[in-house]
Amino acid sequence: MKRSKKRIEPRKIYVKTKYRNIEKILAISSGKGGVGKSTISGFFSMYLAQKGYKVGLLDLDLYGPSCHLVLGANIKEYPKEEKGVVPPVAQGVYFMSSVFYTENRPLVVRGSGLNDAAIELLTITNWPDLDYLIIDMPPGLGDILLDVSELLPARFVVITNQSRISMESVNKLISYIKDQNLPFLGIVENMKMIEDNFIEMESKTQGIFYLGKVDFYPDIEKYYGNKREFSNSKLYEDISKIWEKLNGKI
Ligand SMILES: Nc1ncnc2c1ncn2[C@@H]1O[C@H](COP(=O)(O)OP(=O)(O)OP(=O)(O)O)[C@@H](O)[C@H]1O
Ligand SMILES: [Mg+2]
Repeated sequence: MKRSKKRIEPRKIYVKTKYRNIEKILAISSGKGGVGKSTISGFFSMYLAQKGYKVGLLDLDLYGPSCHLVLGANIKEYPKEEKGVVPPVAQGVYFMSSVFYTENRPLVVRGSGLNDAAIELLTITNWPDLDYLIIDMPPGLGDILLDVSELLPARFVVITNQSRISMESVNKLISYIKDQNLPFLGIVENMKMIEDNFIEMESKTQGIFYLGKVDFYPDIEKYYGNKREFSNSKLYEDISKIWEKLNGKI
């Protein structure tokens, strides 16, 4: 009998089974870099934790992890191990990132090494019972997007800014999400500076749900790792309005 040449990857089987138990996984993505995926992932996680939900945040941007800055997490504190790695808690959010292991040095690997690191992180993290797992995705379409869409029951939230350049790249991601029939919750317009309805109209034309906007806040860094300041901010209100729209859909 001819043996199948297909290699079985036990971690993938494990990850598929394990993450099925997490009620709601939101992949914060964009076809464009620098539009605020990490910022929204971090503050949205803080928001949900303040609302009393048990929330995890996984930074899967392995080349440019940045959620630890938004949460103000202490990355020098090596995560404890107990039947896997226990995610440290920052601002009430269970947080996992490659920065705990790279000591914030650059991770220089080719595509297959990147997938390997992502699958390892997904495998070793021992999440508690979560209401939500927020995943900060790397920019664009690529290796990590393929892993997440293959392995996790993630629902996609797409971030853009209000420019045509951003929307052009974001449309490519949206086409992929639609082609693959992946769960798609809608689009968030971030760093809004000018009152217009370009993204809203564009969403309507494409039959995409417009989840709302987050204004541009030049002093946004003062809310990093500061849940008290954040909860009294206009930024918090913006996130809260997005949550109201999202909550009706999940
Ligand atoms: N609403 C906002 N108001 C002001 N500045 C913002 C806002 N959202 C994001 N920024 C700033 O824009 C820059 C890019 O944000 P961020 O790193 O979150 O984007 P990203 O999409 O995760 O980027 P990358 O594609 O590199 O992962 C950061 O300097 C961040 O502080
Ligand atoms: Mg980012």
